[in-house]
Amino acid sequence: MDLPQLKIGDLTAKLPIIQGGMGVGISLNKLASAVANEGGIGIISGVQVGFRDPNFIKDPLGCNLRALESEIKLTKAKAPNGIIGVNFMVAMENYNELVKKAVECKVDLIISGAGLPLELPNLVKGSNTKIAPIVSSSKAAALICKVWDRKNRLAPDLIIVEGPLAGGHLGFTKAELQSKEASTLDNILLDVIKVVKPYEKKYNKNIAIIAAGGIHDGRDVKRLLQLGANGVQVGTRFITTHECDAHDSYKLAYLKAEENDINLVTSPVGMPGRAIINDLIRRDECNKHCLYKCLESCRPKEIPYCISQALFDAANGDINNGLLFCGVHGYKANKLQSVKEVMNELTNF
Ligand SMILES: Cc1cc2nc3c(=O)[nH]c(=O)nc-3n(C[C@H](O)[C@H](O)[C@H](O)COP(=O)(O)O)c2cc1C
Repeated sequence: MDLPQLKIGDLTAKLPIIQGGMGVGISLNKLASAVANEGGIGIISGVQVGFRDPNFIKDPLGCNLRALESEIKLTKAKAPNGIIGVNFMVAMENYNELVKKAVECKVDLIISGAGLPLELPNLVKGSNTKIAPIVSSSKAAALICKVWDRKNRLAPDLIIVEGPLAGGHLGFTKAELQSKEASTLDNILLDVIKVVKPYEKKYNKNIAIIAAGGIHDGRDVKRLLQLGANGVQVGTRFITTHECDAHDSYKLAYLKAEENDINLVTSPVGMPGRAIINDLIRRDECNKHCLYKCLESCRPKEIPYCISQALFDAANGDINNGLLFCGVHGYKANKLQSVKEVMNELTNF
């Protein structure tokens, strides 16, 4: 099988690999530019980008907007010919303002999940920025296509189909994830391909379908391309690269993790997640003070821990108290590699 390019409207990536956005602070300018320079698509995480600014607690939005602009500029400067995008979670406070800033900075692509990005077309109106929802079911894909068609007279440029083996927040209930009859990425992918067909016809455009979750090597990529995906999105595999923006201790935690250390966790976002089990997850009593007001729906008294604090701790290298999101195959990495090496392994069939 020949390796296809990934076409998204007028954009063509040499390799059909999108590096998944990883927050907080895991995929920023270094990782995104390295992937884009290798011919894939580099994605900056747009979640709490300004968390290192000393004024962050006083003015999170101002700090996030400034840091987002700076990360986009740095990524573009390092990968002037590459394709770059930003990932935003719909559940984030100030989602609209942050998406608009990314559009103003002329990013190629916005990827958005953790909720239904129904307003996304309005936020990119008049720009050339491509838009992609992340879905975990054909039902969600159908709903987004229907609403965008009815309200905005357009169809997504691409759709990320994220299956149950991914790292980060998961678009399934815990019961669904633990059930023996759980849907697989392959099944959901085939269903989503069917759902988008009429919209491709109606708008006379290709909607690129991207498979994500648990992709580790070229065999996974080949299988998904053969099933009909136009590309893949990969997260965890890029954490253990020299170029990943994460702290060195954070990368080491993934190199040391065993298969049994990776499991489902509860998150204040209201969706299950998959992470490396550490003290944060094992502890009963955690810091629940809300300093950051990062989620529209957060109820501090009911949450297991403050997600912003847990992700800031992780980004700063506190691997016992930080939240270490990780895909099912995260234990397979046993050495730090360059982005070039990882891209070669993913595309070597
Ligand atoms: C550390 C980490 C952080 C992540 N953060 C986000 C995020 O902020 N927003 C999002 O939509 N997905 C996030 N994801 C999901 C990835 O973008 C990607 O879809 C997923 O990692 C694919 O599964 P894999 O890790 O098995 O390759 C995260 C994943 C990881 C591992």
